[in-house]
Formats: sequence, structure tokens, C-alpha cells
Amino acid sequence: MPTAFTNIGSLVTNDLERGTGLLGEIDNAAFVVDEGKIAWVGSALDLPAVDDRFDLEGKTVIPGFVDSHAHLAFAGDRSEEFAARMAGTRYEAGGIKTTVAATRAASDEELRSQIASRVAEFHRSGITTFESKSGYGLTVADEARTVRLNSEVTSESTFLGAHVVPAEFAANPDDYVDLVCNEMMFASAPNAKWIDVFCDRGAFDYDQAEQVLRAGMAAGLMPRIHANQLEAGRGVELAVKLDCASADHCSHLNVRDIELLAGSSTVATLLPSAEFSTRAEYPDARRLWGAGVTVAIATDCNPGSSFTTSMAFCVAVAVRDMHFTPEQAIWSATKGGAMALRRSDIGAFGLCMKADFVVLDAPSATHIAYRPGVDLVESTWISGKAVHRRNK
Ligand code: NIG
Ligand code: FE
Repeated sequence: MPTAFTNIGSLVTNDLERGTGLLGEIDNAAFVVDEGKIAWVGSALDLPAVDDRFDLEGKTVIPGFVDSHAHLAFAGDRSEEFAARMAGTRYEAGGIKTTVAATRAASDEELRSQIASRVAEFHRSGITTFESKSGYGLTVADEARTVRLNSEVTSESTFLGAHVVPAEFAANPDDYVDLVCNEMMFASAPNAKWIDVFCDRGAFDYDQAEQVLRAGMAAGLMPRIHANQLEAGRGVELAVKLDCASADHCSHLNVRDIELLAGSSTVATLLPSAEFSTRAEYPDARRLWGAGVTVAIATDCNPGSSFTTSMAFCVAVAVRDMHFTPEQAIWSATKGGAMALRRSDIGAFGLCMKADFVVLDAPSATHIAYRPGVDLVESTWISGKAVHRRNK
């Protein structure tokens, strides 16, 4: 039965033809959901007759946040590493190995339960679609199982066997790349949509990364990449060459990288909480946007460089420290995230799109950045069904 959601003070549609400004906002709005999809959206004054109504009490509604970069399948704790970093130690890719040991030692049930609690946090933070990577197993069996466990909670499951070279292959990194491209790929690809590689200092170089991404593409996976986080390498160049859906981090870009991204359909996914939690320099999101690059913002939820599930926090940091306007940051955390996952059915209020949305206890979406650290998410809805309701 169709349900009308009414009495919406401000609705962010991300549809320029439907509303005003970058976010296509409509005041005093309403929309209708039928069979989990948006069946109508517009001014409340034009609402068609629908028997079932849900009064949203003048609150703000935005499309659900789309988190296009997360690492949910892990065990263990690295709070001491975080504390040391805040005391002056530099972040390095090698810390990943601590989590690898804990993840290998965890049972399927332990991992499943930890993933489930992170998914519940995502829903509480207004995230309705999320990507999740493997990468803390680094054996054939452990990569295959973390890809599978991720695929139980999201269709956006990513094989990241090439996260770092595990200790047992330290003397022969190319042998590890071969393992990733062959046996590990065959065991993991059936439960993955994406292939990813960490192309950076202390992880994999350009040639190794290209080998991994091409092997993944040959196995039917779509490419995305961790690029230019720790230094200005060639990751972005590779991303554009292989038409990766997204180049993630982009913390160290030169003029040529920006030109390449602007002329491509590769999204630059920025991870504000990673810079925050590693005390690193922030990339200039406004500069990227101004150059014509499509930008997404994601949480990068992981135990080492960014242990947050709050997209609102990421939006606030992107505004404060990456020089985005609130509108640009909110667009990047919704529509931008959808584009980074090459999804046209989420990230906006368009007819026949998935009815994934968030009700905010605030007079406008700007409050997401204006009220940092305050939980404004009243409820989160996926396919027209509430997955989180505050105080319920
Ligand atoms: O996206 N950069 C590589 N991977 C993660 C960090 C992983 C870790 O430190 O455990 C990231 O920041
Ligand atoms: Fe990451």
C-alpha cells in the first residue's frame, strides 16, 4: 500500500529540477513510497490522495547517506596505536598487521557479531548503503571468509586481499601479489562486487596494483583503489587509466592528478576522518570540486586510521577542514557516494529510486555541519522501512 510522508519542513532531493540550490531542496514537502520505492515527490500542496500517511512533524529529510568506503570485517583494538599517534607517532600502513592477527584468530561468529554492531551504528548514523572491504585476513581462507561475511550485510562487498603484504611474504612480496591474483581471487571473487588495492608507501606499488586490479577485472569485479593517502604516488593515474569507479583518500594530489580526475568518470572519495585520526593534512575538497572533479565523502570505518561510523562527523570535518560548503559536503555524502558505487538507484529522491532516507531533528540539513557531535538522526529508512528510530 502506498504511504505518504508528509509535513516535511525541508526535503533534500539532490534533484536540481525538483527543488532549489545544489541540493534541490523543497520546503513544506511530501513524498509517497510504494513497494519500497519513491512513487511521488513534491510540495505538500500538490500531494495526491493517499490513505496511509506518516507525519514527520516539520523535520528535515535527506536521502540516506551512502558510505562508499568502509572496512567492517575486523577484530581487535588499536586504541593504543591511536593514543601513540596523538602523542606524535606517524601513521604507517604497517599497523594493519596488528588487526590481521586479531582477525585471523576470530571465529566466524565473533566477526559476524562485530560486523552487525557496526552496521547498527551505521543505521543510527543515517547510512543506508555501505561498501565493506576484506583486507584483514591476507590468507586465501581468511580473505574468502571476510569477503563472504561482508556480502551477508551488503551487496557492495570488496575484495582487498592486496591491503598490505603479510609478514610471511615479507621477503617475497611478488609471490603474495601472485597469490592475490590467482588462488585468493578465485576463492573471494564469487562474493565480491569490487576489487581494491592499497597503492601507497608501505603497501603496493603501481605495477603490483595494476596487476591486482586487472586480475580482479578479469574475474568480473569492478575496480576501485586506495590512492595517494600517504604520499603523492601514481595511484590516481592508475585509477583513471583503468576507469576505477573511485580513487579513495586523494590526500596528496598534484595538478596533473586533478586534471586527470576532472576528465574522467572516476570519483575522488575523500575520507575526512582518516586525516582527523592520523593527524594528517587535509586535502582541499573545494579545490577539487572547483576543478570539476566529482567528490564523495565516506567514513573509511576501520580500526587503524578512522574508527568512526558517523557520516555526520565526516561531513562536519569536510566543511571545517576541507573547505567544503555544507551543501557540497552533504551532496558528496549522498549522491557523491552513490556515484562512487556506480549506483543510480540511491542518493537522491527520484521517481522509482529506492526509498532510502533519513529524518533529521533539525530545521535544515546545514545543521549536520553546524551542530558537530550532536546526533540529529531521528530515524533511518531503507526501502521505505525504518531500520532505526530514536527512543524506539
Ligand atoms: O583506508 N589505507 C589503507 N587502509 C585503511 C587503513 C587500514 C588500517 O590502518 O588498519 C584506510 O585508511
Ligand atoms: Fe580504506
